[in-house]
Amino acid sequence: MKILAIETSCDDTCVAVVERDKKLNFRILANVISSQVKLHAKYGGIYPFLAKREHQKNLPIVFKKALKQARNPKIDAIAVTNGPGLEPCLWTGVNFAKKLSRQRNLPIIPVNHIEAHILVNFLTTNYKLQTTNYLFPAVCLVVSGGHTQLILMRGIGKYKILGETRDDAAGECLDKAARILGLEYPGGPAIAEQARQWKFQIHPVKCRFAAISPKAKLFNRAKLPRPMMYSKDYDFSFSGLKTAVLYKVKSEKRKAKNIKYIREMCVEIQQAVIDVLLKKTIKAARDYGARTIILGGGVTANKELQKQFQQRIKKEIPDSLFLIPYSRFCTDNAAMVGVTACFHRKKIKNWKDIEVDANLRIDGII
Ligand code: KG4
Ligand code: ZN
Repeated sequence: MKILAIETSCDDTCVAVVERDKKLNFRILANVISSQVKLHAKYGGIYPFLAKREHQKNLPIVFKKALKQARNPKIDAIAVTNGPGLEPCLWTGVNFAKKLSRQRNLPIIPVNHIEAHILVNFLTTNYKLQTTNYLFPAVCLVVSGGHTQLILMRGIGKYKILGETRDDAAGECLDKAARILGLEYPGGPAIAEQARQWKFQIHPVKCRFAAISPKAKLFNRAKLPRPMMYSKDYDFSFSGLKTAVLYKVKSEKRKAKNIKYIREMCVEIQQAVIDVLLKKTIKAARDYGARTIILGGGVTANKELQKQFQQRIKKEIPDSLFLIPYSRFCTDNAAMVGVTACFHRKKIKNWKDIEVDANLRIDGII
């Protein structure tokens, strides 16, 4: 079965062609991404209607390129992200899929973007789609520019949101903090790069009130809060962190242009985000006896985050399995939409029945 997958929920125009055989072998025949980063960098963030216009312009080009790369295969179904995401952007992909479905008489499989970030983890090294009951229950952390959610997964299609951000997503916080520091958009990779260049690596929080380990204190003078880190629920809040960066930079105006100061701040911002995400994920994994911890979404492309999760999970819950997508599948792509459609082949629908839901929840998927 060959699936043409489309993803336009945010600012990347993505088309992939994927193939799945009866033995669950999975092949990516094409995975084309056209990034709008340069356009949005000018404004320091995404304007949905500008992004929609770009998707409309790029989608036919990306589609042709993907088909050419896949050597014009016979397509059996179309998969498209129908939520959650930016509504005008989602409609561009969905309308394109509907038109194609009508013209070529192909069924459509609607895909939840958050589920796609999770299920891309089940592409194993030899590109076999694998899930066994042994993996569940799993605790999934999806962190992107639009979402920060902790999800309990009892199997494919069986999800419960344990907690989520009450305001900004972690990626959004990184993007805004980078802008305050005069770094480029998207802020996540820009902050990661500046933090990488900072000479001394700090360690995750060990003491409750100091919020920074003693070793880190010696080297890094920047101190930022870890919002909701010790709250008893699984929710997050990142807008306070962004505001703390803003006040700090304003009050230290004279230093704010100094690259050493910027790097110090980047280490601390990145660490504050990692500390909170790590603490809540480990808590959820323990509370629910998770056999697997799964990461997904753009922010999980962060190498320091990956390293610290790996170390802490190995130390604190050594019996659990830890899954992170290949780096190129952490950020938005259409291959993950194709993977998800392969798991949900029974969800095939007529083009007339496909709708967009910008606030689509993962809980409802069956
Ligand atoms: O999943 P994604 O590509 O798009 C959404 O669904 O939002 O995530 C984009 C987010 C942006 O906020 C970006 O700054 C962040 O992921 N990001 C990173 C890294 N790469 C992308 N954050 C931290 N470190 C990275 N290496
Ligand atoms: Zn995403």
